[in-house]
Amino acid sequence: MTQIVKMKGMNKYFGKLHVLKNIDLTVEQGEVVVIIGASGSGKSTLIRCVNGLEEFESGTLEVDNHPLAPRGGNQKNLAEIRKEVGMVFQQFNLFPHLTVKNNITLAPTRVKRTAQVVANATADRLLERVGIGSQADKYPSQLSGGQQQRVAIARALAMEPRLMLFDEPTSALDPEMIGEVLDVMRELAKEGMTMMVVTHEMGFAREVADRVIYIHEGQIVEEGKPDDVFDNPQNERTQAFLSRVLAH
Ligand SMILES: Nc1ncnc2c1ncn2[C@@H]1O[C@H](COP(=O)(O)OP(=O)(O)OP(=O)(O)O)[C@@H](O)[C@H]1O
Ligand SMILES: [Mg+2]
Repeated sequence: MTQIVKMKGMNKYFGKLHVLKNIDLTVEQGEVVVIIGASGSGKSTLIRCVNGLEEFESGTLEVDNHPLAPRGGNQKNLAEIRKEVGMVFQQFNLFPHLTVKNNITLAPTRVKRTAQVVANATADRLLERVGIGSQADKYPSQLSGGQQQRVAIARALAMEPRLMLFDEPTSALDPEMIGEVLDVMRELAKEGMTMMVVTHEMGFAREVADRVIYIHEGQIVEEGKPDDVFDNPQNERTQAFLSRVLAH
């Protein structure tokens, strides 16, 4: 099996705050790993380390066999890793001054030097795939939140990533739009995309995750198959967290 993400003994601080504590985590190719935990536990920080949006202080981190150096080290692999890792944020982060299609073609044409016609064709195909083929010439502000998030997913896919990171991709959406974004993610998972997903959508986690990881105050305190973690959590912190979130 190919390991796409390998973290060993990883530690990260924000000043004096020890945010990630001795994290050991591997993600296999094709695996969907869902990360859950209370607000402030370090979920976003953990996945942001994977594409170098945050630096870590010690330990090792490899993405698709490219090591990322701890803070102060030589980040010679960062550009390559950014090319291979797609990220979808809670707030979509689309470029407001570009049309939907140009949002999607920007990185392939600039970073990979893909010809514009080729990038355009890819964008059309991806927009169909995420169910918004007719929106290519609109601007982000003319779309619903669910549509914008699907553009963000298409934009990430246009770089043909080896790994997709999702940080609460449905948290900013009205309830009726959550399903359409989760549907796209479910399809991606089915097609074999390697994914790390931070989400509070426990139904989605149970259905789609190969593995669920529970983080408490920067430490992985429990991980396992979704049915095991949700139905029979071993750690009392996990039990307390799940009884809070599943009660809603
Ligand atoms: N840029 C930063 N500078 C200083 N502290 C930060 C920074 N980003 C996050 N933190 C702190 O690090 C801790 C972990 O934050 P993180 O955003 O990773 O949590 P989270 O689990 O994603 O929370 P949420 O569910 O609210 O998104 C928190 O205590 C947070 O306040
Ligand atoms: Mg977060």
